[in-house]
Amino acid sequence: MTRKFTFKKVAIAALVCAALPLSSSVADSHEGEEERFFESKYRHDTMQHFNYSMQKLVPILFQGTGNPDHLPAIATILASTATMTKSVFEKDTRGTEGFTKAKDAVWENWEDFAKRMDALQVDTAAFAEVTQRTTDKEEIMAAFKNVGRNCKGCHDEYKAK
Ligand code: HEC
Repeated sequence: MTRKFTFKKVAIAALVCAALPLSSSVADSHEGEEERFFESKYRHDTMQHFNYSMQKLVPILFQGTGNPDHLPAIATILASTATMTKSVFEKDTRGTEGFTKAKDAVWENWEDFAKRMDALQVDTAAFAEVTQRTTDKEEIMAAFKNVGRNCKGCHDEYKAK
């Protein structure tokens, strides 16, 4: 089965795109990268799975390129990554020497941060489920929007630019 998507709602698409941290991740230079301490690098490498998945999803969902048949597999990578993202932040690394973009607020407000990671897990799992079950673009976009909200919401609070 070949999946085909046609998107009329360009305005909504642009909105969702804007909510995603793509620009910052693409612009994520190697500056300071080699000075990341172990936990910081591990967190970053875990988050990069999101980055790579998003880079493949956006062309499929918004640009009519990419391979729509890959959608369920990519969504599964997001969901699987989200099962790790809370635990990689569990260790309080405030004051550790080396580079990180995690703000101290992560551990000052751990309960809120952890809740956000739980929500991300729920929303990515829902997105994966939708992409496996249907090719209905409205449903897929709605589920994708729910995923994207988590990224931006948390980065605004807890990630340095
Ligand atoms: C509950 C909080 C939270 C959620 C939700 C979250 N992130 Fe992050 N993310 C962070 C933090 C904090 C860092 C910085 C980690 C570090 O440098 O130690 C980060 C780092 C990143 C990075 C590395 C780029 C950079 O600027 O260093 C990417 C890419 C990324 N996140 C993508 C995503 C995507 C895509 C989503 C949604 C699918 C997402 N994140 C959801 C907190 C979150």
